[in-house]
Amino acid sequence: MATAGTKPSTMRAVQYSGYGGGAAALKYVDIPVPSPKKDEVLIRIEAASINPADWNIQKGLLRPFVPKFPFIPVTDVAGEVVEVGPAVQELKVGDKVVSKLVFWKSGGLAEYVAASESITVARPAGISAADAAGLPLAGFTALQALRAIGTKFDGTGSGSNILITAGSGGIGTYAVQLAKLGNHNVTATCGARNLEVVANIGADEVLDYKTPEGAALKNSSGKKYDYIVNITSDGKWSAFKPALNFPGRVVDIASNFWNFVASILTFSKKKLSIMIASMEKEDLRFLLDLMKEGKLKTVVDSRHPFEKVADAWEKSMSGHATGKVIVEM
Ligand SMILES: NC(=O)c1ccc[n+]([C@@H]2O[C@H](COP(=O)([O-])OP(=O)(O)OC[C@H]3O[C@@H](n4cnc5c(N)ncnc54)[C@H](OP(=O)(O)O)[C@@H]3O)[C@@H](O)[C@H]2O)c1
Repeated sequence: MATAGTKPSTMRAVQYSGYGGGAAALKYVDIPVPSPKKDEVLIRIEAASINPADWNIQKGLLRPFVPKFPFIPVTDVAGEVVEVGPAVQELKVGDKVVSKLVFWKSGGLAEYVAASESITVARPAGISAADAAGLPLAGFTALQALRAIGTKFDGTGSGSNILITAGSGGIGTYAVQLAKLGNHNVTATCGARNLEVVANIGADEVLDYKTPEGAALKNSSGKKYDYIVNITSDGKWSAFKPALNFPGRVVDIASNFWNFVASILTFSKKKLSIMIASMEKEDLRFLLDLMKEGKLKTVVDSRHPFEKVADAWEKSMSGHATGKVIVEM
């Protein structure tokens, strides 16, 4: 039998009912509060963060398979457990948690969501719901990209000379901080208004991507990069190749078509590999521990009350967020 705290029978949620339409297509509905299955916990959501994947799914990225309409978007949530299914092992009612919901079911823009225990991690005391909600997808994408270039996060690594593009975005702000934990020498790109933000989270040098030097990815020392972590869909292999050491490698997170072709057709010691992040519970735990120790923080672009979800959606869709866009329930 499930163990329950107090919960109402209905909840407010935000849904859309077809592809496209952006923020204007998001509608508030009153629907039944879900019941957790045997291996699920019911979370009262305190905060959620929006990722580009959320609105790309609305645009039809995974058409025709995902989503099933009507659909409650958003995968990254933080909240409190109010009910647990009978097969739940570790979590209990009252635990503060973070969850990375599966993208084909999502459910994060709601007051409650039922989430498998396998994708839900206890949130250490002292980490706010907003900071924790920013972490899942962006955090473990940054972590896995840096691990792919051999980064050691315990301070024992010798580090390399690396470039991180879009160091100001949701993924980039975590990636810059994690790269510094790995002792890398970090050059990052971003727009002029964010040069200071990115320097403040640890980048050794910051390039404005709209200047000729920034577009050419040239740092002041003239040294080429051992690795490039590409987080912008504008990043092109033709620009990366001359900036790379020999051997050198690009780990491409936000791949465009031409980089995909380069990943298949490049046979030199300068290479580009495409990386798709996967939800790893241990990675989420590791990132939360770094946060607890004060070694990693969420850069918050903006906080939006649940009644103003459309503003948050629009901000993320603009492509100009500085850090994470948060919705608070
Ligand atoms: N491979 C995977 O598994 C995976 C996982 C998650 C996300 N992704 C992808 O990764 C990408 C980034 O995600 P995100 O959450 O970090 O996005 P985001 O938060 O929306 O990124 C916005 C930031 O990118 C900056 N930016 C845009 N174009 C730039 C350029 N050419 N050079 C430097 N900075 C630039 C913007 O700066 P300005 O405002 O100054 O322009 C803004 O600060 C998305 O395409 C997403 O779909 C991939």
